[in-house]
Amino acid sequence: MPAPQEFLKYVEDHTDDFVDRLAKAVAIPSVSGEVAYRKHVFEMADFMYSELKALGCEEVKKVPLGEQILEGQTLQLPPAILASYGNDPKKKTILVYGHYDVQPALKSDGWETEPFVLTKHADGRLIGRGSSDDKGPILGWLNVIESHRALGLDLPVNLKMCFEGMEESGSEGLDDLIEDQKDKFFKGTDAVCISDNYWLNTTTPCLTYGLRGIAYFALKVSGPARDLHSGVFGGSTHEPMTDLITILSTLVLPNGKILIPGLAELVAPLKPGELERYENINFSIADIENATGSKTTISTDKVQTLMSRMREPSLSLHGIEGAFYSPGAKTVIPASVTGKFSIRLVPDMLPDEIEKLVAKHVASEFAKLNTKNMMHLEMGHGGKPWVADPDHWNYRAAATATEGVYGQKPDLTREGGSIPVTLSFADALGVNVLLLPMGRGDDGAHSINEKLDLSNYIKGTQLLGSYLHEVAALSE
Ligand code: BES
Ligand code: ZN
Repeated sequence: MPAPQEFLKYVEDHTDDFVDRLAKAVAIPSVSGEVAYRKHVFEMADFMYSELKALGCEEVKKVPLGEQILEGQTLQLPPAILASYGNDPKKKTILVYGHYDVQPALKSDGWETEPFVLTKHADGRLIGRGSSDDKGPILGWLNVIESHRALGLDLPVNLKMCFEGMEESGSEGLDDLIEDQKDKFFKGTDAVCISDNYWLNTTTPCLTYGLRGIAYFALKVSGPARDLHSGVFGGSTHEPMTDLITILSTLVLPNGKILIPGLAELVAPLKPGELERYENINFSIADIENATGSKTTISTDKVQTLMSRMREPSLSLHGIEGAFYSPGAKTVIPASVTGKFSIRLVPDMLPDEIEKLVAKHVASEFAKLNTKNMMHLEMGHGGKPWVADPDHWNYRAAATATEGVYGQKPDLTREGGSIPVTLSFADALGVNVLLLPMGRGDDGAHSINEKLDLSNYIKGTQLLGSYLHEVAALSE
């Protein structure tokens, strides 16, 4: 059943109010990965809590998730916000998940505007950290509730909501909560919908049925008791940075090929008919060049490029803690350096197996160096890859809703990013999970000038509401 016209109209008519709601959220710099910002993550939790209360949700809870150690300090984890709206046994129950934390952002990183001030550009972009990842989408659900309430319309399903504040930092504490609450708050969930991803390009809506997992590593090499003068000690002392860079260079080739023995064998072979799925996706190399703002794509072949993102692993080198990085020239030998890298995982790779392969590989490469320095490898957060059944009614409802709002059939995609709790929900609740994106492929999540196009915010809100109506129609 299509969403009522009055709902669609209400959303359009209240564009300014909904943009204000997003502006308030973006103004709270809820960066989960840095100690100094933790208070703002709590502030954002309070914002979500009071918005949900004001919308008349029956049950709104801030659930504490315990403590973590960050930058050597013990910190309180931000709470999960659980809320429900409607509890009619005759209706289907949809659980929606999203995150209210964001990646770091500083104007000096190269932003055109203040990252935590939502700035409306004349071309329709709403620029600000978290606009697309993931504040726009989570507020989309709130906009849907508000519109129905204002119109005196019942929601066509029971809605349960779970919003977390640690997604960008490995979702610490959330798996335990899901396990603990699977027969309590989450009981009765018929399907899950997550809006925390993007279209592949700027024009074609999509539904996403797969995500890569992740294994994040920190490789520390240390030796000298303190930083040293390179003129005095260079040439006579083993240098941790030289050792580290030699090891890092044995992980991956510039063409993206991963060099860790045993890893490629874990990748599931292509299934019959799978290749066609990639061929059918509306995507071109120009889309990826537009999103990266460059012509640096490795392959010129569309299907290979899509497969690299959707069904093959990748290894990225992220940075070196302890390295000299300031402008100017400092003639220092850093005493201790930590290389950060991560591997995106696809079926059938599991983080624990990958950890063993990586540990074996770096130990054997380190032994070849004949260095007197020391090495220590640690795996940080890990998440398994996830693939769902896109023939499920949950996907059919979303496809029908997308056609209603955008007048286009959505592409079926898998994504290269990770949302580790996707699989936790699927496994713990035994239900289908759908990823239903709001933003476009060039939104710049995690990058400078992150934006959500106004039309995607408004149509995306209509889409989330329409999806709930189509779910209800399918269950009648
Ligand atoms: N919204 C992204 C996940 C995503 C990225 C979906 C790209 C589709 C395409 C999410 O907020 C995110 O960035 N997650 C982290 C998780 C990690 C810290 C465990 C990621 O993928 O790096
Ligand atoms: Zn996100």
